[in-house]
Amino acid sequence: MEVKLVRVPEESDLNKALNTAVNGISEATHKEHLKLWQGYANKTNEIRKALAELDTDPAKANQIYSPMRALKANYAFAYGGYLNHNVYFETIGGSGGAPEGKLADLIAESFGSFEAWAADWKATGISARGWAYLGYDLEEKRVHTYLGDGQDTYPAWNNVLLLAMDVYEHAYYLDFQTARAKYIDAYMKSIDWHAAAKRLSQVL
Ligand SMILES: [Fe+2]
Repeated sequence: MEVKLVRVPEESDLNKALNTAVNGISEATHKEHLKLWQGYANKTNEIRKALAELDTDPAKANQIYSPMRALKANYAFAYGGYLNHNVYFETIGGSGGAPEGKLADLIAESFGSFEAWAADWKATGISARGWAYLGYDLEEKRVHTYLGDGQDTYPAWNNVLLLAMDVYEHAYYLDFQTARAKYIDAYMKSIDWHAAAKRLSQVL
């Protein structure tokens, strides 16, 4: 059976993100970041190919170590990192501020106001070791913010990711050193809410 592979991002995938330079997140940061994003794509594809060739005899599987365990555990990290970065780069390079329409209504419903959401988002980002997420929960039909400490910490099952904010140091250290709060301020001025709304439109 043919192995389905993910698309490896290219420099042109950064085009919109380069707009963030005006807010302080530089082209140099994004170009370095692209190498990591490509790494998640390449490793996703490598693991998919390895899984396709793996001997799936249950007698060879083992929870301490087995090729199946190694591939499956690292697949979540590779593909999770790929998806997180896809959403990150897809939803920055905009003009920030507050969203409009359905997304604005959902945020007001869950947080009371956009300002309350913004405070929650910033605090979530400062509290995370890897990611802050805004997800639309298909169970409750509401938006929530989530914290992720690794590439493989999904926000929750059955959510559509609307925003993914990378707070690993590689996302900001060149521009802000350890001042993560300043990076988050710059990120928030750079959110492309139209792109987030487009993601929501997949299900609403
Ligand atoms: Fe990253």
